[in-house]
Amino acid sequence: MHVRAAEESDIPQTMEIERLSFGQTWEIHNFKSALKETFLVCGRAEILGFLIAVGCYRNISATILKLAVHPDHRRKTVASRLLDRAIDIFRSAGITEICLDVDMGRKPAIALYHKFGFKISKTILPDVEDEDGYHIMKLALTPEK
Ligand SMILES: CC(C)(COP(=O)(O)OP(=O)(O)OC[C@H]1O[C@@H](n2cnc3c(N)ncnc32)[C@H](O)[C@@H]1OP(=O)(O)O)[C@@H](O)C(=O)NCCC(=O)NCCS
Repeated sequence: MHVRAAEESDIPQTMEIERLSFGQTWEIHNFKSALKETFLVCGRAEILGFLIAVGCYRNISATILKLAVHPDHRRKTVASRLLDRAIDIFRSAGITEICLDVDMGRKPAIALYHKFGFKISKTILPDVEDEDGYHIMKLALTPEK
């Protein structure tokens, strides 16, 4: 399974995976801007999944903004490969912590992040009943040897 940096031509398929996964998507210009950040896709012509992350806090920490796999290709290690690559990139860049927000109802994602060693650092409960709360999860990275 091939993980690589996204190109502009990957954006339509990426947006479709996002729509299928979250029911809504960023605007196309947000994806184009993300090409300057850590924007990885898994797949060659057919995109199976994608991950978008940004470095922040003086490049000490990185935040995963989006991670989604096409529903037809889940449970085949696509997300794991994307996360493995992102972690390698961040470790090489000297980043020591990866953060993300995940809705409390997204059990597969929470299980995935736990498997990678992420810990829940805070839980934000919803203000209104029909909204999901979310967890802030963090992974401390050991420096590259
Ligand atoms: C969460 C998501 C990205 C996982 O992608 P995936 O490619 O299926 O994940 P992988 O095959 O790499 O799974 C790795 C591990 O994650 C966990 N996991 C993944 N899907 C799971 C599920 N449906 N139920 C329980 N655990 C699950 C397991 O621990 C799994 O390891 P295992 O197969 O050895 O048990 C995918 O389900 C998805 O796109 N969901 C919708 C979007 C989303 O919630 N994104 C995260 C927002 S922060």
